[in-house]
This record gives sequence, C-alpha cells and structure tokens, in this order.
Amino acid sequence: MKKFIALLSSFAMAAALVGCSAGTKPEENPAPAAEGVSGTFEGTSTAGIGGEANPVKVTLTLENSVIKDLVVEGPGETEGIGTKAIDSLPSLIVENNSINVDVVSSATMTSTAIIEAASEALKAAGLNPEDYMAEVSSQSAPVGDVTVDTDVVVVGAGGAGMIAAIVAADAGRNVVILESQAIAGGNSVRSTGGMNAADTPYEDSNEFGETAGVEKTLGTAASTYADNETITALAATVKEQWDAYQAAPEGYYDSVELMQLDTMIGGKGINDPELVKVLAEKSADAIEWLGTVGAELHNVAAFGGASVKRIHRPVNAEGKVVSVGAYVVPILEKAVNERNIEVRYNTTAKSILTDESGAAVGIEAETADGSKVTVNAKSVVLATGGFGYNLKKVAELKPALDGFCTTNAAGAMGQGIEMAEAVGAATVDMDQIQIHPTVHLDENNNASLITEGLRGDGAILVNAEGKRFTDEVGTRDAVSAAELEQTDGFAWLIVDQAMADASSVIQGYISKGFTVKGETYEELAEAMGVDAAAFAQTMTDWKAAWDAKTDAEFGRTSFASEIDLTKAPFYALTVTPGIHHTMGGVKINTNTEVLKEDGTAIPNLFAAGEVTGGVHGANRLGGNAVADFAVFGRLAGEAAAANAK
Ligand code: FUM
Repeated sequence: MKKFIALLSSFAMAAALVGCSAGTKPEENPAPAAEGVSGTFEGTSTAGIGGEANPVKVTLTLENSVIKDLVVEGPGETEGIGTKAIDSLPSLIVENNSINVDVVSSATMTSTAIIEAASEALKAAGLNPEDYMAEVSSQSAPVGDVTVDTDVVVVGAGGAGMIAAIVAADAGRNVVILESQAIAGGNSVRSTGGMNAADTPYEDSNEFGETAGVEKTLGTAASTYADNETITALAATVKEQWDAYQAAPEGYYDSVELMQLDTMIGGKGINDPELVKVLAEKSADAIEWLGTVGAELHNVAAFGGASVKRIHRPVNAEGKVVSVGAYVVPILEKAVNERNIEVRYNTTAKSILTDESGAAVGIEAETADGSKVTVNAKSVVLATGGFGYNLKKVAELKPALDGFCTTNAAGAMGQGIEMAEAVGAATVDMDQIQIHPTVHLDENNNASLITEGLRGDGAILVNAEGKRFTDEVGTRDAVSAAELEQTDGFAWLIVDQAMADASSVIQGYISKGFTVKGETYEELAEAMGVDAAAFAQTMTDWKAAWDAKTDAEFGRTSFASEIDLTKAPFYALTVTPGIHHTMGGVKINTNTEVLKEDGTAIPNLFAAGEVTGGVHGANRLGGNAVADFAVFGRLAGEAAAANAK
C-alpha cells in the first residue's frame, strides 16, 4: 500500500479543477434580463478540505451578468487556514468580476474549491465561466523598491515571530514583520495538539496511571541513559521529588525537572540541556502570558513521551477540545494588529544585511512582484520555521525519508537557516527530522495531521490484521517505527463515540469523511476490511488492560479515565507516518542570540522557533513545538527589544 507513503503536492492539487462540483439555479431566481443575467445562483465544490461530506458552497449574485456579491460557506474548511481564503477571495472576485484569482498560498484546496464553485454558479446562471477569466492577482500590486527603518525586524509571522513582535512592541520598539506567505500562521496554525507546560495550576489530576508513567521514565533513564550526565542528574532530582510526593500524595505531581527529563529522553539525550532547562522553566509563565493576550490553554491531557498529563489545550464554548494552532494564531494576529505592527505579507526575506563588523543590520526581501524591500533594523529576529515542506532538502539530509508526505505549511522551506548560515551562523542536528505517526492520506493523497491527542485521550492503533502493535502514547519516533514495520506501513486509529462527543477535532475528522464507522466492533472491522474476530478480540483485550490499568503486552501507562472505547458507534481512520518537524536549525544560546561555530554571538541577530536547533534533540515531544515558540518567541522579543534600545 505504497500510496500511504506518497508525496504531497498541494499546488498540483490546486491545479486539478476536476469534475467534483455542481451548480444549481434556485427556483426563486429571476429570469435573465435582456441585457444580461441578474439574480442569485449557487455552486458547490468538493475540492476543499471538507470534501464530499462538507462541500464548499457559494451563492453568487449577478446584475446584468456582472458579479455583485459572492458568499462562501465552507463548514469543513480548516479554521485559520482555509478560512483565510473564505475571507479574502470573495471580495477579489467581486471587485474584479473575475474568477481568475490567485489561490491563497497555504490554503490552496479551499481557494480551488471557491473558484470551482463560483464557476459552477456562473454555469448555473447560463453563463460561460471562460468569460470571467480576466487576470487578477491577490498579491499586492507592484509597489516598487522600498526601504523601511525600524527598531526590530521579525522574519516570519508564525507563532514565534508574532510573539516576538508583540513582546518587542510592548517594550516600546517599532516592529516590522516580513512574511513570505499571503497569510500568517506558518506551521503554528497547523498545530493541533497543545502546549506542554510544567507545574501549572491547570494540572490538577493524577487520574489515569501517570504514576506508572513516572516510574517508566525513571526506568528508561537508568537503563538507557546511564552515561548521560544531564539525564542522570535530572532523574536523581525527579526521584527525590517523586519519593516525597508518594509519601504524601496530594494534588498533582509534575515539575520543571520532570519536563526536562521527558524532553531529554524524548530527544535521545542529544538536546542542548540549557535550552531544555529554559523551555521547561519558562513554560508555565508562557501559559499565563498567552492568557494575557486572550489565549487560554487550560485543558490538560496526556501526550506521547510525557510522564504525566502536561499538554495544555484550548476548549470551545461547549467545553470541547479544539486545535491549538487554529485557536492561538488568530488571537496573536489580533494582538499584532492592535499594536499597529506592520506586517508585510508575500514578502520573502532573501538575505540578512550586515555591517563591516559582521553585525546584523537588517533584511533584504522581495515581494511577489519582484520589488525589493530593504528593512534597516537594530535587531533582526529569525522566526522563519523549519524546512519540513522542502522535501528535496529533507531527502538530501535524511535519504530514508525520500517519498514521505508532509504535514508542513508551504513556507517551511528552510530559507531562514540558509540566510543565517550565509552570515556565519552555526547549525545543529540538521539531519534530525521527525516523522509523525498519524497522518491521514485521503484518496487524492492529501495529507492531514491526526493529532496525537486522540491517543492521549484514549484511542488505540491496530494494524491491517486488526491487532495492536505498540504503546500508542510512546514517543513519535518509536510509534512511527513500529507502524512502518506493519503490513503496508500503516495503521488504523480507533476511537469511540465518547471521544467524539468530547472533541470537536474528532468531529472534524468524521465530517471530512476520514473515518469508517460501525455500530459494533465486528461491523467496524468489516468497514476497515480487517479480520472481525481478531479485531473484536483486540478490543476485548484492550478493555481488560484498561480496567487493570496495565498493558502487559506493550507497556502503555496512559489510560484515559473515562474512555475505554466501548461506546458505540466506533470509528476508525487510516494513518501513516509523515514528515512533521525538523529538529535541526541555527544554533542559539538561552538569550536566543544566533551563534557562530566558535560559540560567539552574531551581534543583533536572534532566532526562535523551528528555525533553531538544539531544543528537541533527535525527536521532539508532542506539545513542545508550541512551548518552543511561546517560550523562545517571548525571549527573542525581549532580547531584540533590549538590544534595540
Ligand atoms: O499530534 C499533534 O497534535 C501534534 C502536536 C505537535 O506536533 O506538537
């Protein structure tokens, strides 16, 4: 089943305007006027993320065959990504009386669906869409070369970049953000799970076997990392804390040291211990800071490689868990706008400007129309993300990943790392590239990240034979490796109705048509095409393990308190590993200064987020990307502001 390890090309998908759409002419539409067609007409398209289950629908208003209004409904489109296209394309189409608009980069599927549905609506009106193809660009009009002077220039409007910009602006600095894409968010907006933070007031329950999680971690530290000084020292501290907690087990046990230990073990001990220390120490404060800009991450759950429940997630008004990136990014954008921070979209940084001493003094960038943008600044912050969309670079650095799909945003090309290297920055761990074990590929090979949170919340994985094969809440490298060993390198992720009731994320997967369903285990097995008796036995065995809170077969220690996978109907979706995070990047110190090979800092140059290396070592824990961008984004903002005094 090689199709599960296929290359994603969203641009190719966007180009494929194929027959998956329909136009209708509502009864009440007035007849075409002699001089042209007037009235409202509808068109739909299944080319969006919502697919057939949730097609994109447009209602188009014509006056004398001129497009006067376009209303788009796309309930299945991704919040914060596809919704950007829904927000921006209708006015472009109306203003230009043309459907020949550029797709919004990063939201190519939704853009394509809108254009296709508008075309269908025109056909429903008896018009020829070819007559509405006047060339239009959603990119900014040619502006010519410009030079801007500012205190701080931030490259990249993802989580790290926007947070650095907000913090620097709050410190009284003028800030300009450059963003290569048409929209903000980068990989951050795609982040589904949540944010790890240690010892917060929101961690208030030890309800499901985390005790075994701590024991297991201490066991791993002793058995696998006895030679690693950092891990051994952290394990000794955690053991002391753990013994004290067990002697008087009140409240919840987590600690900064336990988060460090988990992160170091997750990273196979090659992480930069100082950066890990900062990540853990400042994580709780970063949760509070996010609260001050309006982003509340107060639902705490289990995630892979964490000894205790530590991932902090947002919930919606009904109390259901929602995707962290789609929740946080619009809040950060609002905070950026409220501070009047100038954001230049579709503007790709090309090089870091330096003076004769080698200090960074600005950025040279290019707009979509080829105009040059020169930003002179006292501090430069690189927050350009990693290179997980650059499949060529990924394959060069790690040939074993050639041909894998990616969960990454189109801007994650690694430009920031190359620019930093060009001015003497050192890099670390460039060949450490993470594959995430649960990526769903639809029939067109479109890749969607299926959050690890499902497994933390109680889901299990079974193979093509209907059997479990690993601790589902292990680290990503371990789960991915186990999955690739199964028949055809894929697995089924199993959830029940109780899980679906608690999570709008799962409901999204169901409504997008990712799942098959059964009222009984046998019925689900049939829908999956796996042996019904074997699958039913797996579910019976899992229930017994869940009841005993002991998984003798695979050593899982996380058992969600109320989720035993017995509430019908049951759902399953196929998952396979896909490229998710590039752990390597530019070398920084704990003040986010970019370092040269000799360990000295490049003056005025700072970096935060996935563009940096060292925080996650050989394997990032789920929930640590948001922690990384929140903690180091803030630090970069503070450092850049102080430097720009
Ligand atoms: O599985 C996830 O939700 C991904 C989270 C992360 O990469 O941190």
